[in-house]
Amino acid sequence: MKSLTGEDRVYCGTLREKDIGKKVTVCGWVARNRDLGSLIFTDVRDREGIVQCVFDQSLNAHLFDSAFALRAEWTVKVTGTVRARSSVNDKIPTGKIEILASELTVFSKAETPPFEISDDINVNDTLRLKYRYLDLRRPSLQKAIKTRHEVAQITRKYFDEQGFLEIETPVLTKSTPEGARDYLVPSRVHPGEFYALPQSPQQYKQLLMLSGFDRYFQIARCFRDEDLRYDRQPEFTQIDLEMSFVDVDDVIAVQEGFLKRVFKETLDVDVQTPIMRMTYKEAMSRFGSDKPDMRFGMELCDIKPETAGCGFGVFENAGFVNAICVPGGADKMSRKEIDALSEFVKSYKVKGVAWYKETAAGEAGSSFAKFMTPESLEKIKAKTGFKAGDLLLCIADADEETAQTALGALRLFVAKKLDMIPEGVFKFLWVVEFPMFEYGEDDDGNTRLYAKHHPFTAPMDEDIGLFETAPEKMRAKAYDIVLNGTELGGGSIRIHRPDVQEKMFKALSFTEEETMERFGHLINAFKYGAPPHGGLAYGLDRLVMWIAGTENIRDVIAFPKVQNASDLMMDCPSPVDQKQLDDLAIKINLEKIQKNS
Ligand code: AMO
Repeated sequence: MKSLTGEDRVYCGTLREKDIGKKVTVCGWVARNRDLGSLIFTDVRDREGIVQCVFDQSLNAHLFDSAFALRAEWTVKVTGTVRARSSVNDKIPTGKIEILASELTVFSKAETPPFEISDDINVNDTLRLKYRYLDLRRPSLQKAIKTRHEVAQITRKYFDEQGFLEIETPVLTKSTPEGARDYLVPSRVHPGEFYALPQSPQQYKQLLMLSGFDRYFQIARCFRDEDLRYDRQPEFTQIDLEMSFVDVDDVIAVQEGFLKRVFKETLDVDVQTPIMRMTYKEAMSRFGSDKPDMRFGMELCDIKPETAGCGFGVFENAGFVNAICVPGGADKMSRKEIDALSEFVKSYKVKGVAWYKETAAGEAGSSFAKFMTPESLEKIKAKTGFKAGDLLLCIADADEETAQTALGALRLFVAKKLDMIPEGVFKFLWVVEFPMFEYGEDDDGNTRLYAKHHPFTAPMDEDIGLFETAPEKMRAKAYDIVLNGTELGGGSIRIHRPDVQEKMFKALSFTEEETMERFGHLINAFKYGAPPHGGLAYGLDRLVMWIAGTENIRDVIAFPKVQNASDLMMDCPSPVDQKQLDDLAIKINLEKIQKNS
């Protein structure tokens, strides 16, 4: 690699003992400058790490004076000879060597940065994101962004080897809202009309299958106007793929090869295949979640049968009662902490938590035992495997999934609180046979069926007959890949028969007119010879989060947005000129928005 002035340039962080005696040139930023009398030690940082450069007054007084003036974050070039250090620094990979400098060039000076460029400092997020270009100089972020690059390269290589073609699909597309809100782009040429930014390339990739590109992939930018969380951004990236002439097992086999490759090459972790599969129903009943974290036990237990005639009305009258047994929980959680669990579950639409505990010393306490026959309590203890020292947490509700979901969330909450989740473990799981539909409210407050995955997902062959009679019982050929409780990706086999697609839209209460307006392009395309097809999309950001070992999606995105979807560095979204609005025939009516919110 040549430097600006033609010398062979090396990265600071790559120098080792084997380089001792070599003349090298490094370019980077001053991380630290220490004056030790007749010696100046300057740490120079680039994307590969830090190296110590030494300026010796006795060898070159003029050079020493130049080095004396250096300040943090100045951009420099140093040429010199690599030598062994007299005092080794074990904390950095270059700690056994240093560069004895013979030349120094200052490319540019720097103002004092708003925060120190180091991983060890505590700076508030707002400041870090406002100066993201400086934040990105920190070694941990440099590493995460490089990991993202590696994952993208492995992805391209793997899918290419498997015969997939990388094809780009449009970013200006049609609004077909189902799921999250669309980001809209007004058209100047067609005043009053809008493009939408894609929530995913779903429809395009299906159309590519109809065009005969039977294996497609793309690293695709997606946009969803939805509430943000630690693992959600309004603008994110999918590894998106689709295959023709396949069924569920074919799609899954290709993905298992991919996951094996990517975890081996980045972390040297062997993913055991075939990855375990679990139906949605089993995941809900055992873990209270469609993305179970399998790194620990504490599974849900159905105790409804044990509560028959127990005397405690809350349990007897509820349709569903589930429990988890927290091992050692009686001694690990205070009464105050147990009471707070009821507050926690209220956001999951249940009334609270009923609890029972016995300390290791045999002291019992409970919110419900006094209302219950001792026999019933014994039955519940036996069913849940309860023993002295444990804490039993129970949730009752009229609705099965509500009870399960609340207890599933509690399971995770308690496991995190009591440090029960092992680190450095990767538990993969396929969740399969999702329901085709779920009930939801439309804009007018009417309850109707919505597609659980999306309206193009094929039903399981044996359930096709249920469209007219019991759509809520239908299961889909849909699958999610789950890692340690995170949904890494999801996909399905698609409907390729026009008659089945028509039934699907009918079940979703779309009129024929609405269907044609929104999906006419697909319906028409399917008339011209559609192959059976299916695919999947991973959240690239989420995959990189696990590989980089970070808990915040922002750490793996160079320029992320904050909670309210704004970009603090670019200061956007931002108002535009009246002229731009006039060109687009747009009139802003803030009053209406304020009234509605
Ligand atoms: P789905 O909506 O499940 O499926 O998305 C696939 C994966 O994308 C990731 N993801 C996100 N990551 C970050 N921020 C977000 N806001 C966000 N939303 C989703 C998740 C998720 O598993 N077209 C279908 C795929 C298919 O059927 O082939 C789709 O988009 O990791």
